[in-house]
Amino acid sequence: MDRYAVVGQPVEHSRSPYIHTYFAIQTQQQIEYSRLAPHIDQFEECVKGFFNSGGKGLNITLPFKERAYLLAQQLSSRAKIAHAANTLWIEEGRICADNTDGLGLIADFNYLNIPIKNKSILILGAGGAVRGVLGPLLEHSPAEIFIANRTAKKAIELIEDFQTDSNPGNAKVHAGLITDPRLSRSFDVIINATSAAIKGEALVFPQHLFSSHSYAYDMSYRAGLTPFLEQAAMHKAAHYYDGLGMLIEQAAESFRIWRHCRPKTDELRVLLRQQLNNNS
Ligand code: ATR
Repeated sequence: MDRYAVVGQPVEHSRSPYIHTYFAIQTQQQIEYSRLAPHIDQFEECVKGFFNSGGKGLNITLPFKERAYLLAQQLSSRAKIAHAANTLWIEEGRICADNTDGLGLIADFNYLNIPIKNKSILILGAGGAVRGVLGPLLEHSPAEIFIANRTAKKAIELIEDFQTDSNPGNAKVHAGLITDPRLSRSFDVIINATSAAIKGEALVFPQHLFSSHSYAYDMSYRAGLTPFLEQAAMHKAAHYYDGLGMLIEQAAESFRIWRHCRPKTDELRVLLRQQLNNNS
């Protein structure tokens, strides 16, 4: 049976084994999908050992996405631009890497009818999650993307890495502090890509960001509203969604790379939402 796994630290709560097993059953394929949690110093050995023993593909999660990018011998343009990889596989003995996070976000936006073209987009955070999605967002020609971060330097460095050839619609791309005076207005789409909630910390941001036509999107998820979405609801954003759909769609893109067919995601969306609510 073809073997796949997710590599991370910690990884015991990863939903990837469930998601990919579901996709395999749906598309009538036989795969085995497990979890690998190498010691922090042994990521590279773990990946090489997996492929040397005949493994077919890996998903990479925190904190190893950048090291997966560095380890790979062949990079997709998305992985190159993101400086991070979440999907690895073997082709002619070489480790290949892609980053499907951005495709996952775009697929979820399509599913939820969140517009991008000609819209103003604000992203809170400037970490690996933002690196993965900035290129695919720019490909859909927004009018503007503002990256706002607690540490301004990190946001500014991030946009400096994104050159005009990855910005076909010539969107205005700015970066600054989360308290930047340029943020005293509303945006069409506001995305939370910080890890504040995961770390149990408060996320402080300006209060005028949402208007009655704004979409709020949190890349993290949990049962009920995330703290960011609670604030969006309180400030009367028109629509608010969490990142469970992005998780499912990025997995569907990894599955497509490995198995050359894209699974359907509608029923899994309902199933995982139910599981999340039941476990809360
Ligand atoms: P990821 O790969 O999930 O993006 P990361 O690279 O550690 O993780 O980035 C986390 C992001 O969340 C960063 O932008 C971080 O801000 P800093 O660059 O200033 O560290 C942001 N972040 C984390 N906790 C935060 C908090 N309590 N308030 C605001 N931003 C926070």
